[in-house]
Amino acid sequence: MHIPGVKWGALAMVATLAACGGSDNYPYPTLNGDKPLVIGHRGTAGYRPDHTLEGYKLAIDMGADFIEPDLVATKDGVLVARHEPNITGTTDVSTRAEFAGRKTKKVVDGVEEEGWFVTDFTLAEIKTLRAIQPLSDRDQSYNGKFQIPTFEEVLDLAKTEGAKAGRTVGVYPETKHPTYHVKQGLPLEDRLLAILAKYGYTSKSSPVIIQSFEVSNLKYLRTKTQVRLVQLVDADDVNPDGTMSLVAPYDKPYDFAVAGDSRTFASLLTPAGLKEVKTYADGIGPWKPYLIPSKQVDANKDGKPDDLNGDGKIDERDRVMMAPTDVVKNAHAEGLFVHAYTFRNEAKRLASDFKGDPKAEYKLFYNLGVDGVFSDFADTAKAARDN
Ligand code: G3P
Ligand code: CA
Repeated sequence: MHIPGVKWGALAMVATLAACGGSDNYPYPTLNGDKPLVIGHRGTAGYRPDHTLEGYKLAIDMGADFIEPDLVATKDGVLVARHEPNITGTTDVSTRAEFAGRKTKKVVDGVEEEGWFVTDFTLAEIKTLRAIQPLSDRDQSYNGKFQIPTFEEVLDLAKTEGAKAGRTVGVYPETKHPTYHVKQGLPLEDRLLAILAKYGYTSKSSPVIIQSFEVSNLKYLRTKTQVRLVQLVDADDVNPDGTMSLVAPYDKPYDFAVAGDSRTFASLLTPAGLKEVKTYADGIGPWKPYLIPSKQVDANKDGKPDDLNGDGKIDERDRVMMAPTDVVKNAHAEGLFVHAYTFRNEAKRLASDFKGDPKAEYKLFYNLGVDGVFSDFADTAKAARDN
């Protein structure tokens, strides 16, 4: 079910925090009454190749409150924006004769992968590559045009474009595969902290939120910075009945797997789990079905899911939304904000209830009280929120 980079889902830097989210009178039951944040997921992944300055700028132009770089490290220890350490699917590296000999196999979160890995390239080499759109159903016309940015270039862009727009644009870095990077001898955390310190981003009101799917690196970061931290919560898939499918390596934080910790991602969202998360993080970033699941329908009880839209396939469009869980309510009760991922416009990625209208999905989650949404289409997320 997992395709690299995509969860298909069951099939002038002004220094105030408020300016980077706001406390306008929005009608949604968010933690602090602030408007839900629009987070430009990987930039504007729905319109431009992931993690490019051009994609991040478009997100800012569309009104995103934050832009989201996933971070991995180069061989010479520079943090760059890529969704995976393996850049086979998101760059033109496989077409570059000079790097043919770098193709290799590495184990990431317990799974062997073959391809080209950022950790085997210097920054100078990475800069010769160009980004490509990893999803074949999305616009391929920008392939080969844009470079891979460093984290510092992303911070600079947010500052410059925010100043032009007269608002604060936040940056929401994710430490990708922290355990893998330690094994490669390139731990991410101190590198990230050093860059943030250089920009003066050390406090809770800094326009930065750090996220991770692992736990121990967030706990380490908590001892070193007051910048807001978010515990991401993943799963493998959603089962036909709407329960979460927890299959390795998407069943638990990978540092839990290494430590033999029996807790799963779902454990982190129980009342006890949320209490523990609150000891080191400011918010949670769950996959959205943890908040409102969807299920397949079998009205005629023939043991097969109904093809609700009659297109001969069973996918997201053949699911119906279920009642919300208590996760938002329980997280808010602990004082944790909730930023859900990932919202996408394509009809084939929307449950039947929304009738192909992505704004209907946003509104359902805004009305539930989410404090932010990671969106591939920042313009739609903003329009659904503001209209
Ligand atoms: O970080 C929130 C969301 O981006 C998590 O999913 O896999 O797109 O990084 P992913
Ligand atoms: Ca991410």
